[in-house]
Amino acid sequence: MTDQTTLSFASPSAAAADGVAVVFAEDGPKFTSAAQDLDKKTKGMLSEAARISAFKGKKGSSMDVLAPRGVKFVRIVLVGLGKPADYANDAWLNLGGAVRGKLSGREGGTAHVYLEKAKGELSAEDVANFALGAQLRNYKFDKYKSKSKNSETEQTAKPLKTLVMHCADPGAARRAFAPERAIVDGVNLARDLVNEPANVLTPAAFAARAKALAKAGVQVTLLSEAQMKRLGMGALLAVGQGSENTSHVAVMQWKGAGVRGGNPIAIVGKGVTFDTGGISLKPAAGMEDMKGDMAGAACVTGLMLALAERKAKVNAVGVIGLVENMPGGTAQRPGDVVEAMSGTTIEVLNTDAEGRMVLADCLWYVQEKFKPVAVINLATLTGAIMVALGKEHAGLFSNDDELSARLTAAGLETGEKLWRLPLGPKYDKLIDSKVADIKNTGGRWGGSISAAQFLQRFIKPGTPWAHLDIAGTGMASGDTDINRSWGSGFGVRLLDRLIRDHYER
Ligand code: BES
Ligand code: MN
Ligand code: ZN
Repeated sequence: MTDQTTLSFASPSAAAADGVAVVFAEDGPKFTSAAQDLDKKTKGMLSEAARISAFKGKKGSSMDVLAPRGVKFVRIVLVGLGKPADYANDAWLNLGGAVRGKLSGREGGTAHVYLEKAKGELSAEDVANFALGAQLRNYKFDKYKSKSKNSETEQTAKPLKTLVMHCADPGAARRAFAPERAIVDGVNLARDLVNEPANVLTPAAFAARAKALAKAGVQVTLLSEAQMKRLGMGALLAVGQGSENTSHVAVMQWKGAGVRGGNPIAIVGKGVTFDTGGISLKPAAGMEDMKGDMAGAACVTGLMLALAERKAKVNAVGVIGLVENMPGGTAQRPGDVVEAMSGTTIEVLNTDAEGRMVLADCLWYVQEKFKPVAVINLATLTGAIMVALGKEHAGLFSNDDELSARLTAAGLETGEKLWRLPLGPKYDKLIDSKVADIKNTGGRWGGSISAAQFLQRFIKPGTPWAHLDIAGTGMASGDTDINRSWGSGFGVRLLDRLIRDHYER
């Protein structure tokens, strides 16, 4: 969904005509200089209102003064920053989202935010993060809401047109924010894809959305079922064979570092556009959520768009496996044995453990074809990861300590947090099969780990690899300051950060 609020950066003293003013106070309350200034101009209204409402400047608190006298603003919002000591890396990002959430646009089309701490200036990165948070909060998935004429809110709500961020160095903030516009587009594309219902976003429709990235300079090729058959992708095809909708693989290449940039980093996504469980059918309650079983593929697509739009100096390839898991007459059965592209045979014990089968062929394909420097895959792979980690962290599994540490750090920087879980030979044994090389479930205990072990069977020795289980974070992850939609777009900012920090020339 496109955003309708224009962001601009201005000096603290730049003329502010109308609308809303947003100023800050630290725990105390200690007013920032802009807050002190407004307090003076309103003859003490701000400090008086703070006293009456017991506003102390605590993090997450805010106070409103409507129709203040002596200033041009129709509303002043005083927002608490808490103690500067507890600022996390994503503090300004989340604050941007929280502030944007308080601005309806009803009081005039413009809001002026005076960004500063009680003592000292914000860095250009902090300001850019604030702007990013505000813009991410702006997203709504409302394309299926018909506009009813007598709806009260439709008539009275005016969107916020302009958000002016007043800061010490507007030029530096503008430059710092330039690449973040691409991130907004990438995250919102991922959210759009996750939110889209499965009757609309079939594997073919998703493939077409990936193909559209060509406009941004991404080279996109699609694999048809016939091509996949020739490649031997028996695992992916087995998952899709019960559906009327054909399966697809999309390969997205961004060559921002050119020939001298060397082999690409590969990002692989699970794109099950709907997961009924297949013949091992899921229970009815909550099954609608399985329209989001392509959040991994959505993240890969959003990331590729973001990299292209910000012209990242990196070679990256994104591969997504797009299938629908249905219990049709042609569906695979429990007990079936299929052969993956790698030659590994798989005994299908549970047709609901389909994501790993889709990824098996995508992972092998990307290693054969591109010899990537590292492979990272994202998947809404197991319900068990939510039992282990809730919705606070995505699960991280890796064969490489350095890659794992880099990902964990990128998670803390962006607020898209990861928690590493173990892999090992004892867990690997859980997926040995009596009739084939491996089976597709390892039983109830450590379900997220045996799923990861399954994926690792398709990673070539020496290839640094990480698997992110985003079942708890990619969809229905709950309201946050920067997201109010069902699909979160999780992983786009995380992997963009990883690439900026370690893989760009
Ligand atoms: N797509 C599901 C995992 C999932 C569950 C994602 C809930 C988001 C929310 C996956 O395909 C699945 O069904 N996994 C099974 C594996 C089991 C059959 C070994 C699971 O987690 O129960
Ligand atoms: Mn499943
Ligand atoms: Zn699934």
